[in-house]
Amino acid sequence: MRKILIVNPKGGSGKSTLSTHLASWFAWQEAKVMLGDLDRQHSSHHWLDLRPETLPQINRWEIGDDHIARPPKGCQVAVLDTPACFSGGKLKKVLKIVDHVIVPLLPSAFDLWASADFFEELAEMKAVRHENVQVGAVGMRVNSRTQAAHQLPEFLRKFDIPLITSIRDTQLYNQTIQRGMTLFDLPASKIERDQAEWQPLIDWVLKR
Ligand SMILES: Nc1ncnc2c1ncn2[C@@H]1O[C@H](COP(=O)(O)OP(=O)(O)OP(=O)(O)O)[C@@H](O)[C@H]1O
Ligand SMILES: [Mg+2]
Repeated sequence: MRKILIVNPKGGSGKSTLSTHLASWFAWQEAKVMLGDLDRQHSSHHWLDLRPETLPQINRWEIGDDHIARPPKGCQVAVLDTPACFSGGKLKKVLKIVDHVIVPLLPSAFDLWASADFFEELAEMKAVRHENVQVGAVGMRVNSRTQAAHQLPEFLRKFDIPLITSIRDTQLYNQTIQRGMTLFDLPASKIERDQAEWQPLIDWVLKR
């Protein structure tokens, strides 16, 4: 079973977008997918409630933040969305049950500064030191023509964290999310470019 944690204590960095998209991609591969949501705003679970029944199914992973239950047996891929400010003891607990940690990052100075402390905290965690979990970052809403986009890999090098891929800024994300869908639920011809951006992340998850 693959257990994927999506985390960045900085609000609005793209955690729920990343969580719902990964869950949806694996559901299209006919995997038994569970989506957990530790956020009190329940963005991912709210999205799940809106998901049309005709689309590949994603199951709710009910998980309390005081007792982090492992995903149920039979689950093949578990994706866990987290709230802003998620760190410290809660992060430590969750790291015990996951094998991949993906950190979405916006290419803005404020976001990078806020994430620096988090990467330092993450590096100190036992699960990361012992390489029980694999950590990578994903650039979100990246315009490759901007200087900010080029700061991302440079920033991550300081923490020895790979930039797995960068996802462009497009309204398609908002348009699909509000219908309980993701870009992967659209016709392949509409998302060729986006599929190519997601592929390195999918390969990274599948590699381990
Ligand atoms: N690649 C993208 N292109 C355009 N809009 C995007 C993209 N990724 C995310 N967004 C939008 O950015 C906003 C924040 O994304 P999201 O809700 O996924 O962040 P979050 O980290 O889960 O936020 P929170 O910390 O509040 O839980 C949302 O409105 C989302 O639709
Ligand atoms: Mg969220």
